[in-house]
Order: sequence, then structure tokens, then C-alpha cells
Amino acid sequence: MQKFKNKIIELKQTENFRKLPEKISNNLINLCSNDYLGLNNDKKLYDDFLTLLYKKNRKFSSCSSRLLSGNSIEHYELEELIASKYKSQACLLYNSGYHANVGILSALAEKKDLIISDKLIHASLIDGIRLSKATVARYKHSDYFHLEKILLKSRDDFENVFIVSESIFSMDGDTADLKKLIELKNKYKCFLYIDEAHAVGVRGKNGLGYAEELGVKNEIDFIIGTFGKAMASIGAYVVCNNIFKQYLVNHSRTLIYTTALPPVNLAWSKYIFEQLHSFNDRRKKLEILNLKFAKLLNLDYRSHIIPYIIGSNKDAIKASENLKQQGLYVLPVRYPTVPKGTARLRFTLNANMDFEKIKHIKTAINKK
Ligand SMILES: Cc1ncc(COP(=O)(O)O)c(C=O)c1O
Repeated sequence: MQKFKNKIIELKQTENFRKLPEKISNNLINLCSNDYLGLNNDKKLYDDFLTLLYKKNRKFSSCSSRLLSGNSIEHYELEELIASKYKSQACLLYNSGYHANVGILSALAEKKDLIISDKLIHASLIDGIRLSKATVARYKHSDYFHLEKILLKSRDDFENVFIVSESIFSMDGDTADLKKLIELKNKYKCFLYIDEAHAVGVRGKNGLGYAEELGVKNEIDFIIGTFGKAMASIGAYVVCNNIFKQYLVNHSRTLIYTTALPPVNLAWSKYIFEQLHSFNDRRKKLEILNLKFAKLLNLDYRSHIIPYIIGSNKDAIKASENLKQQGLYVLPVRYPTVPKGTARLRFTLNANMDFEKIKHIKTAINKK
């Protein structure tokens, strides 16, 4: 027990102790939600969906894994819809992005394989990689010369090689060079695994993500999308070919050994996904808002994820508290979510926000 107490003391001493935040007061403007399109507070969407729901009498639980009796018509409908929008052979749903990344990477990569990932990938990807039996290498963030160096040296020593990256990086908001990654995966005969958790809904002409925007979505072997961010639901999917889908259904433990998502949730995800292509106004508004916001704080605009890097944990906590007093809610992001010494405020606005109501951040953020 003492060991655990000591760990907590250490976290407190390094200003790295976390507790579950209280419910956000209605007086605060939330600047750190992933509800990028503002769908999570859209009463009309809710009302329309609920009307549909009553008519169809959906169930609130699946009460079983998909491989037992938890598989539902809603699973099939949503998978078919997603696969058809991506013009891909197949789609497979997972209960969350975390389940997807952990369950897919750990199942795919075996002892004779190599996984090469960007250094700044999300914890769920890291955990999936750790659970796999493959050899692991990491390239410096977005450094594709480094990636190629690893490939040149090691490609021939392994059976399959998986290159893993996010498309829009969750803590920095910068984008991966997907075209370069595709070039390298083709040159060295690898598989490319791209997590689009933060890009789906926000990027691409139909909201299918950054790969759609660049016109390369069908050149990537695995695209991960999540419902819990811009789509205001929960769950995730992988878009891949039929063989991989069948393989995952047989090997992916976070799919097999867990209760399936409830039909009511899948129906909501489908309801939103069907409309993704029609949210261009929201995407445009979000972009304009973020451009203004980044300019106001003298930051480079990279995407709808705007990191304001402060450095020390203590200063990041202080800045967050100062902003709270000014009616602005944004929590500090610290190690191990981001590298040591780069504690930050991670701003994520939503398309319905009024710039006039948040622009006092410029003075509030500099208060000591
Ligand atoms: C890049 C990335 N992948 C996956 C996830 C996990 O997704 P979910 O919240 O659906 O578990 C996150 C969540 O923060 C993420 O940022």
C-alpha cells in the first residue's frame, strides 16, 4: 500500500496529480471538448433522432459479444454504410477508438513482423503495439527520412511491416504527410495504418477525414475513425479489405471478448454518419473560427486542434485556473499525455461558438 501512496505523493509533488474534473458549470465556455462540429448540443438533431428511434424500438444493450448473440442489424447497416462511403471492401466496428487500436494492432502484427510508428502517436496505438508480439521501431515525429532509414536497414529482416501514424495528431494538431507515407509503404511493401480519430467529420469534402481531403483514402490499408469526437457518439471503425476484416473477427480480442455496442447507440452513429457529407457549413465555420483564434494568440494555424505550449506543469495549471476565472474552460495537458516539459493548454473549439464571447482570452491568458 505504501508504494501506491508514495506514487501519489510523487505525482502531487511534480504537479502531475490528476483527479476527475467536476461537472463543467453552465457559466463556463468549454474550449477543450472534441465536439468539433457542435453536434453534441444540437437539439434539433436529438429530437429528430428520437422520433425515429421511437418508431423503430431499438434496444439499449446488446447483452453479449458480437460473436455470440450481440450482433445486430444495426451493426451490419452501419458497417455497410461506412464501407460504401469510403468505397472500401469492408468496415468493422469497435466499441471505441481505444478498443480498435489496441485490438487491431495487437492482432495483426506477429513475431516475425515489424511495427514502425511515429513517436507522437496516441496512447491507444502505443498500447496496441505493446500488446503485439512484433518488433517495434519509432521514427522522429513526422521525420520521413528517419522512417526511410529504418526501412532501408530493416525491411528485409521481417515478414510484414506496419507503418503507424495519426493523420491529425491529437495533441499537436499538425498533420502527417500521408502521400509520403503511401509512397514509402509502396516502395518497401508495407501496410499503412492511419488513425483519423480527429480528422473524421472535420476534414474532407464528405467529412471522411484527411485522407479523403488528399484523395488518398483508398491507398491506405487501415483507416481508423472514431464516433466519440466530431460525431458526438461513441464507438469506432476500421476501414480495410475483406481478408483483414475476417482475420480481425477471428483474432481481435477487444472485438471478441466484449459486449457489443447497443443498437440504440449504433442507430445514432448511423444517423450522424449518414449526414456527415452535409456538414460543410459547420466545417467552414470551424475553420474560420480557428483561424481567428490562432491569429489572436499569435499561434500558427495547423488544424482545429490548437496547442498552446506552456512548458511546466505548474504554469499550465495556473493558466488553466486563470482562464476559468474569466469564464473559459480548458484543462492542462501534462506528461505522459505529452512529452515532459511541454505541458500545454489544448484548445479545441466548436463550430457553434461565437468568437466575440471568447476573444478576451488574449488578455486572460497572459494574466500572472
Ligand atoms: C488519435 C486517437 N486515437 C484514438 C483515440 C481513442 O478514441 P476513443 O475515445 O473512441 O476511445 C483517441 C482519443 O482521444 C485519439 O486521440
